Amino acid sequence: MSVLVTGGAGYIGSHVVHRLAALGRAPVVIDSLVTGHRDAVPEGVPFLEADVADRARVAGFIGRHGVRAVLHFAALSQVGESVAAPRAYFQGNLVASLALLETVLDAGVPSFVLSSTAAVYGTPDCTPIPESHPTRPINPYGVTKLAIEHALGAYHAAYGLRYAALRYFNAAGAEPSAGLGERHEPESHLIPLVLRVALGLRPHVTVYGSDYDTPDGTCVRDYIHVADLAEAHVMALDYLEAGGDSGAFNLGTGRGYSVQEVVDAARRVTGRELPVVYGERRAGDPAALVASPRLAEARLGFQARRSGLDEIVRDAWDFHRGFSPP
Ligand SMILES: NC(=O)c1ccc[n+]([C@@H]2O[C@H](COP(=O)([O-])OP(=O)(O)OC[C@H]3O[C@@H](n4cnc5c(N)ncnc54)[C@H](O)[C@@H]3O)[C@@H](O)[C@H]2O)c1
Repeated sequence: MSVLVTGGAGYIGSHVVHRLAALGRAPVVIDSLVTGHRDAVPEGVPFLEADVADRARVAGFIGRHGVRAVLHFAALSQVGESVAAPRAYFQGNLVASLALLETVLDAGVPSFVLSSTAAVYGTPDCTPIPESHPTRPINPYGVTKLAIEHALGAYHAAYGLRYAALRYFNAAGAEPSAGLGERHEPESHLIPLVLRVALGLRPHVTVYGSDYDTPDGTCVRDYIHVADLAEAHVMALDYLEAGGDSGAFNLGTGRGYSVQEVVDAARRVTGRELPVVYGERRAGDPAALVASPRLAEARLGFQARRSGLDEIVRDAWDFHRGFSPP
């Protein structure tokens, strides 16, 4: 029996595949390589290059490998791009995920874990944000993820599909010993962008807004180490397989760091200057996005262990020093 990881050649998915393989949990991967990297999937892990919407090929792969659970990472995930090109997001995220769910239900796979996102909350009324907070996404990316969550809720009620929608806050860090880390192109995440400045690949860090209602005026986010995310997925699988209640779970630490604190950490870790340019606020950026991690703690038994800011930045730096993007 194996675990299907869609998007397993991407940033977070590849770390989860690595963890599952290390635990002998037989991961198998489907990835279209639209943004992923074939070399991020370890040798020996069965791999199908396909779109998750390709029902015939996905069904064949699920049948051949006796898949008993699906971890669904495959998605487009750039907020700005989703505003400019929403068709790609509704098709690539929502329509493709519904097609995958058709295949999963037809094959009788009992458990499904969705990579969801803090973007389902939109601009929060309070922070830390509990799962019971209203979901009011403010961009097509968040809308598509929330729609998939709704489909999962209905399919659970009607067909008994067990699911966990894991709402990640800011995934960060790397597993440099496994040669794994963040390789988005273009990159939009703060920590790899800051480290590209440290490597001399970009001239400066742009900080968007320094007049927010936060202690130092820059935006505050909840960073979670990708190795902690990997552990949380294993726990979510165990939880569902043990008959745990389906639903949505935040994955974060409950502790936010400001953009300025991230830049300062990168200066400490890299020992480099890191010039900063302070720019205007970006539309749709809330001042602070911090998870309440209590539900995942209580139900899944999950606690972030590697998500201190310096550890995250150090692991990402070790990875980036060994790998320079084109
Ligand atoms: N990175 C973050 O901070 C973050 C935060 C919240 C949620 N997420 C979610 O986590 C998941 C993984 O994010 P990531 O940062 O690893 O992104 P990524 O782009 O590195 O990985 C996505 C992978 O999915 C593949 N893929 C995309 N569409 C596909 C399709 N239709 N069929 C088959 N393969 C397809 C890509 O080739 C890639 O390998 C996404 O669902 C994303 O929305 C990420």
